[in-house]
Amino acid sequence: MGFNKENVLIVDDDVNILELIHRHLQSFNYHTYKAVSVKEALIILKDSKIDLLITDLKMPDVDGLQLVKYVSEHYPKLPKLVVTGYPSVDDALSVIKSGALDYLVKPFTKEELRQAVIKSFSHNSVNKDRSNNNNRTSKNNNVGDYGELIGESQAIQKVTDIVDRVKDNKATVLIQGESGTGKELVARSVHYTGKFSRSPFVAVNCGAIPESLLEAELFGYAKGAFTGADENRNGFFQAADKGTLFLDEIGNASLSVQSKLLRALQEKEVVKVGSQKIEKIDIRVIAATNSNLYSQVQKKLFREDLYYRLTVVEINVPSLKERKEDIPLLVEKFLFKYGVEYKDRLVTIAPEALALLKRYPWPGNIRELENVIQRAVIMCDRRIEIENLPDNLKYKIDFPEDDLLPLREVEKRHILKVLEATGHNKSKAAEILQIDRKTLRQKIQ
Ligand SMILES: Nc1ncnc2c1ncn2[C@@H]1O[C@H](COP(=O)(O)OP(=O)(O)OP(=O)(O)O)[C@@H](O)[C@H]1O
Ligand SMILES: [Mg+2]
Repeated sequence: MGFNKENVLIVDDDVNILELIHRHLQSFNYHTYKAVSVKEALIILKDSKIDLLITDLKMPDVDGLQLVKYVSEHYPKLPKLVVTGYPSVDDALSVIKSGALDYLVKPFTKEELRQAVIKSFSHNSVNKDRSNNNNRTSKNNNVGDYGELIGESQAIQKVTDIVDRVKDNKATVLIQGESGTGKELVARSVHYTGKFSRSPFVAVNCGAIPESLLEAELFGYAKGAFTGADENRNGFFQAADKGTLFLDEIGNASLSVQSKLLRALQEKEVVKVGSQKIEKIDIRVIAATNSNLYSQVQKKLFREDLYYRLTVVEINVPSLKERKEDIPLLVEKFLFKYGVEYKDRLVTIAPEALALLKRYPWPGNIRELENVIQRAVIMCDRRIEIENLPDNLKYKIDFPEDDLLPLREVEKRHILKVLEATGHNKSKAAEILQIDRKTLRQKIQ
């Protein structure tokens, strides 16, 4: 089956787009290969018979343009289609010069994609008699389900710098940060970007498992260890062998579990509940907490020796408030994700709505931002307007710290701010200020 299906290689570092194109192409009855980087794409090109290359331009490390050039030289007959979210004349020109004939600008509809693919095939004669393809591999097209750590702020850059340093070794990492800042995402990116990414990533929420069960869940149990233990069972430590064990909410582990964790980390061995047998383990441990773990150490709620074992490397994930410049990028990501999910199209956001988002203090961090965008996408037509944002957000926008001001001045500045945020739409401003338009007009005067 599927022998005369054409093989399309899709290259994009954004897994959402990769997935979207893949789904569309499948529905057009093409067979697809997916790569999240140029490096991965080159491996697939070498091992498989590809009939069309679809690639993003802007990618970290090696960019798509270099891939296009490489393919033009080494596979001159392979048609290429470039997809990019940053159309600029320069990009387009260099792409054409480099030999990519077709160019598709994000956002695109399913139909635009279909037309572009058909066009690319018709522009180029596919080299049908390329050497035999017995060594096609399918294991190259699995993309880990980690999200991309989005952000260009210095605050997030500090995090990605550390991720780069630890991803290929087994040093224990402690990730600290407020709730919803992306601690789990950071843990996943340590694992999935590093050289142990093909081994398991096992996440355990230490706060969600009842204390009485945690030990057996972590280390496994032997047959007969307790009523109901009618066979030997592995725990999370054994399941994560050669890979990464992510101990989320480590601050919730009881003191007795803490002492067993310490032993496991120190000796690199575990013992199943109800067993004497020592099992060697070879894993990397990443722990996360949203409380200040050291203050728990001072209160004697957390073992100091375990604390030091865990903090070989420390990653402090910044709150969204500390990296507000990343808000537009994050919003863009969520617009894409939920636009595709709920509207089957791309949704945009009005500049004044985005301006408002940048002013809000985001106590719930990225998770709260994601919820707000998700809801707004459902509520809006094609573009998120201020009225699609929750009311509580509109009233809690941040003001720069200022001197003590007279009430009149505060009122004036506030009105100006709301006007600015609404793009000088007086009806919207009046609605936010909860005064009628006439009053607003008088105050403006
Ligand atoms: N830098 C980022 N780029 C894109 N999405 C992000 C980023 N950081 C976090 N997210 C998203 O925000 C949400 C919350 O992230 P995550 O679950 O990792 O937070 P957390 O710190 O573990 O939260 P909690 O302490 O509540 O468990 C997820 O949907 C995640 O995909
Ligand atoms: Mg979490």
